[in-house]
Amino acid sequence: MIFERIPTGGCQSYLLGCSETRAAIVIDPNLAQIDHYQGVAAREGLRIRYVLDTHTHADHFSAARELGRTLGAHVVMNRISPAPYADFRLSDGEILRVGNLRLKALATPGHTRDSMCFLTEDRLFTGDTLLIGGTGRTDLPSGDPEALHDSLFNVVLKLNPALKVHPAHDYKGAGESTIAAEIAGNPRLQKRERAAFVEMMTHLNLEAPTHLTEALRTNMSGGKTVSQLLADAAATVPFVAMDDLSKRVADGALDMILLDVREKDAFAAGHIAGAQHLPRGQLELRVNKELPDPTKRILVCCEFGKISTLAAATLRELGYTRAAALDGGINAWRESELPLVTD
Ligand SMILES: [Fe+2]
Repeated sequence: MIFERIPTGGCQSYLLGCSETRAAIVIDPNLAQIDHYQGVAAREGLRIRYVLDTHTHADHFSAARELGRTLGAHVVMNRISPAPYADFRLSDGEILRVGNLRLKALATPGHTRDSMCFLTEDRLFTGDTLLIGGTGRTDLPSGDPEALHDSLFNVVLKLNPALKVHPAHDYKGAGESTIAAEIAGNPRLQKRERAAFVEMMTHLNLEAPTHLTEALRTNMSGGKTVSQLLADAAATVPFVAMDDLSKRVADGALDMILLDVREKDAFAAGHIAGAQHLPRGQLELRVNKELPDPTKRILVCCEFGKISTLAAATLRELGYTRAAALDGGINAWRESELPLVTD
């Protein structure tokens, strides 16, 4: 078996490959590592056939949909997972074959209702059911401490004690553990009695993970993250540097339409000399009248350089083939003490 652990901060993903057939699976892929997984697969001579989420993640952005789409790989999840893009759904006890590797799905609800662990050879991929020195929390949507107690004490901890434990999170960089080591040393597993375990889990007072609502939204629906939307727009738009624009303004040689897409009050409070005002919210409605020549060079600016990227991408989609965005925004322009006017 070819095995590689790929961390993103405290989040862990794993790439498993069959040494004979070269088929591979990525477990709990993270959106930030898409190129990394493909790079590892290429280095090892593997083809990623499956991407698997052990559960609906609330704290990171799953790359399952994106990898599934770009690689033509199946997205594997629990039969009851809400994600609409999962096209290979497993129930408790079913086995997924990846080349000659066999991964057995074990339903282990508790951290979430759709949590599963996956058993292959000498390893157990525990998702957020069992962590090294901890367990998944049960206070996020569909979490259930009683179910987690059942899953841990009646399923996971009854497996072969020699199994290596590979969780979806490893905040302390522990790397590897075994079932036996967790039974002996994991503080949460010392509360073996059900009521005491539930009492402990319901009084952890953990902070909500960052990006909770956005991660749940994108992981459950297959929608884009805001940064993905911006990155997709930025990939289709050329940028112009602030000092290039400031030189042109100072020389009185703007030689392009400078389109300020901020709201009316912001524009009135100070804008770059020569700028034309067209708020982002009215762009599509007024574009034919305000920008009659689609061959003109248009440079879009906004307060922080993000809405201008989206607006420039929209203009290019509408046929303004020379639309570009200012690299930076009026905020940075102001902080650089470049001149603004209030005509
Ligand atoms: Fe989780």
